[in-house]
Amino acid sequence: MKNDTFLRALARQPTAYTPVWLMRQAGRYLPEYKATRARAGSFLGLAKTPELCAQVALQPIERFDLDAAIVFSDILTIPDAMGLGLSFGEGEGPRFERPLRDEASIRALSVPDPTVELRYVLDAVRVTREALADRVPLIGFSGSPFTLACYMIEGGGSDDWRNVKALLHSRPELLHRVLEVNARAVSDYLNAQIDAGAQAVMLFDTWGGTLAYNDYEPFSLAYSKKVLGAVSRVPRILFTKGGNPWLAQMMASGADAIGLDWTSDPRHARKLAGGRVALQGNLDPAALFGPPERVREAARRVIDAFGRAPGHVFNLGHGVLQGTPIDSVAALVDEVRTYSRTRA
Ligand code: CP3
Repeated sequence: MKNDTFLRALARQPTAYTPVWLMRQAGRYLPEYKATRARAGSFLGLAKTPELCAQVALQPIERFDLDAAIVFSDILTIPDAMGLGLSFGEGEGPRFERPLRDEASIRALSVPDPTVELRYVLDAVRVTREALADRVPLIGFSGSPFTLACYMIEGGGSDDWRNVKALLHSRPELLHRVLEVNARAVSDYLNAQIDAGAQAVMLFDTWGGTLAYNDYEPFSLAYSKKVLGAVSRVPRILFTKGGNPWLAQMMASGADAIGLDWTSDPRHARKLAGGRVALQGNLDPAALFGPPERVREAARRVIDAFGRAPGHVFNLGHGVLQGTPIDSVAALVDEVRTYSRTRA
């Protein structure tokens, strides 16, 4: 590995500078991504063509010299492989043709074989590893069992996830059944990505933070823990958007690193972690809409807040927003590299 800074930071080993990558680093804010996507015809067409996945996964690495690449795919590949019928309307979010809206569909749910139904993702992992030629590590990923259940039950995105929460409060045993199947599906999927060459894995629990305080552990974290326990050959990152109330519990989940969103205080998180887990984050993605000098200041504040101890991977608190200026991303990466070097 030519640049193993990211893996060293996840292992809480000293590094010459703070490694940086960005959630959603490949995507519509890049003109080269838009060109490839236009060539593919649609987002799903792109996601199902391994050579094009590798091309877009490498685009941000070429442009910004980031310290890790992430497989180009989506978290909704699992429910699609389960037969729920995924589509993306032009300019809209994801939709499932057959959401889980009754007991029969929940009882019929089964764990897909990733080497069959999700072979295109595993091929994307292999082709991307080859294209990277050990320049930087490749991150595999999945949605958390709970976040996948949100889309599967709701049939798409939602402001309040009312069908999911209605099920939680009326037939909790049915929600547990979905989560149990998802936990097995996610474990198999991540292990297959590791077999195909993923060198670290990340669980995206994008909607766990919408749960009531007492519901997060039984309905989200308990199932993420099952996955983390079943996937142990590479470092594992657990990210819950809005997860700040449960940081201590997340840190005890078996994950090697915890992703923080921008509402967390890095100083507090570092104390809580006590050097036992690495931390990833946590610049507000909206900070990239400021002028480059402000972006640089904001990057320095985040680095200062995490402090000098090893075990910090610089990232945003959530994905790069659409319309983010490319110059801001370039300034951010440059500042993280140069400023953190002076403090190492
Ligand atoms: O980070 C990366 O660069 C890797 C690629 C990646 C995508 N989706 C590509 C994508 C990753 C890691 C994801 C994860 C994902 N997908 C999450 C969890 C992370 C998070 O953001 O919280 C979620 C919730 C999804 C579900 C999803 N996929 C939604 C809601 C949408 C539509 C929203 C939108 O921005 O249009 C997608 C589509 C999607 N996934 C796009 C990309 C680049 C945009 C599709 C396009 O090109 O039109």
